[in-house]
Amino acid sequence: MKTTIIAWSTDQIELLRHSAVNEGYDVVQTILREENSILDDLFSQIIGEVLITECATSQHLKDIAGLEKFIKEFPTKEIVLLTPERPAEVMIAAMQAGVREVLLMPLVNNDFSDALHRLSQRKKSPPSEPLQRAKRVVFLSCKGGSGATFLGTNFSYYLSQKIGLNTIFLDLDLHGGDAVYYVSPEPGKSNITDITRQIERLDTKLLASSVLHVAHNFDLLSAPEDSEFSYTISPSQLERLVEIAGMSYDMVVMDVDRVMSPLTTQALDMADVIYLVMESLLPFLRDAKRLVAKCRALGYDDNKLRLIVNRYEKNDIIDLAQIEKVVGLKVNHTIASSFQDVAQAINTGVSILQVNPNNEIVETIQEMTREFQPAKSTKPVSWINRLMGK
Ligand SMILES: Nc1ncnc2c1ncn2[C@@H]1O[C@H](COP(=O)(O)OP(=O)(O)O)[C@@H](O)[C@H]1O
Ligand SMILES: [Mg+2]
Repeated sequence: MKTTIIAWSTDQIELLRHSAVNEGYDVVQTILREENSILDDLFSQIIGEVLITECATSQHLKDIAGLEKFIKEFPTKEIVLLTPERPAEVMIAAMQAGVREVLLMPLVNNDFSDALHRLSQRKKSPPSEPLQRAKRVVFLSCKGGSGATFLGTNFSYYLSQKIGLNTIFLDLDLHGGDAVYYVSPEPGKSNITDITRQIERLDTKLLASSVLHVAHNFDLLSAPEDSEFSYTISPSQLERLVEIAGMSYDMVVMDVDRVMSPLTTQALDMADVIYLVMESLLPFLRDAKRLVAKCRALGYDDNKLRLIVNRYEKNDIIDLAQIEKVVGLKVNHTIASSFQDVAQAINTGVSILQVNPNNEIVETIQEMTREFQPAKSTKPVSWINRLMGK
């Protein structure tokens, strides 16, 4: 990196230049600072991306104020400030000015070369958002026909198209799962057990070549077509599949068989959020209550569970308060019944968003996806907090 050095003596300039060159810096300019000179006056001569400068003994704060203006004008330049004293006020002022490296003189050990090394590392890899694990959600039907598959597939479609999250849907309902047909007129060329059978060689490449691309940002692994055959996926195979999927997707959405098989339990264990889908009818209530008890017995905290009442009408005989009382969970979302649009979506193998974006169900799905929307901006950790290890 092209570098300018400003120092009070030629000896010091030589010393700094020597170390900087050793660290691979290209020192293109050195400026001998004259007594009583003002740092601001030298800024017009500075070239390169890095400025290494000594600070005045008696007027630290004035120099730092000058640097602040300089950094504002040239925010990409990196500054290494060498100061004969380092009281807290100098540190804070330097931090506020945007100086990342403040070193106390005389320099000891590898202070200087370490700082230059840190700086070049930072330049090489600009600070990025910490890598986040893909979020995992499971849709669990309290009773067959509750609408878990319909909601899971449409939720995935919405996430991928409207929120922009790269989403994979795994149909783990191995004996009769037909999720693919809720969003695609055609099944994929391979099913989920074709993948888990070769789990040892599974990587992101093989996964990408095996999934059905339903839409931009939305892939799906369907359940086997032939539900007669006894297909199995072991919990550890699922764990590996989800781990690998998490490397290329933001969201892993799983549809499971309601029976608490080891596979279903594995999916629930790995989930960040479990959607329990029910209707406001007595048989569903009983099953929902049982399912919540099972989830608690498996050790899941209630805040991992979301209770969804599907096909809900305001004048249903069983109201939300009664549902909450019996099931023992608060209802997170209610989904309207919408026979015509849902039937059209299912009969043509497309999402409800494509059939009618104004359908009430789409609005509720949007509400459901809200908790997964990436935060607009993350507040950067301040320099002083990093320094203090906060
Ligand atoms: N809100 C709704 N309005 C109208 N029909 C619905 C609604 N939710 C689900 N359905 C229909 O109910 C049927 C069963 O849904 P499905 O998602 O397969 O249930 P599950 O997966 O819980 O067994 C499907 O034909 C689906 O289209
Ligand atoms: Mg289903």
